[in-house]
This record gives sequence, structure tokens and C-alpha cells, in this order.
Amino acid sequence: MIVCSCNVLSDHDVRAALDHATAPRNAGQVYGCLGCSPQCGRCARTIRRIMDEATAAAACVRCPATATAE
Ligand code: FES
Repeated sequence: MIVCSCNVLSDHDVRAALDHATAPRNAGQVYGCLGCSPQCGRCARTIRRIMDEATAAAACVRCPATATAE
């Protein structure tokens, strides 16, 4: 799904940027990581939501409550 129509960025593009070792820490860095810059800014909230979801998912992976017994 396209989340930024100005730069034609998809949610997959944003998630891919977040998977790098030097993952962006804010929406502005996501644009830079993907080789573009914010234009109208309407997508910033959506990009932040994708970042929050990725952070929450990573936290769940590390959470001992979700770890399986070996
Ligand atoms: S929709 Fe992303 S900068 Fe305009």
C-alpha cells in the first residue's frame, strides 16, 4: 500500500528501511534513508505508526513472556 503519494513510498519500503542496522529513529530519517525528503508531510503520521508497530513487534519478540520453553 502506498503510504506517501508524494514520494511513492509503500509500507513495505518503510518497513525495509526499519530493518537496516542503522535504522531511522524518526519519520524524517525514514525519508532520507529511502533517498527522498518530505514534501507535503501528510504521510508522517502513518510512517510514525508503522515505526511504532515495528518497535512493538520487536519488543514482543524479545519479551520473556512470549519466549518458548527450550
Ligand atoms: S504524502 Fe508523503 S510527503 Fe506528501
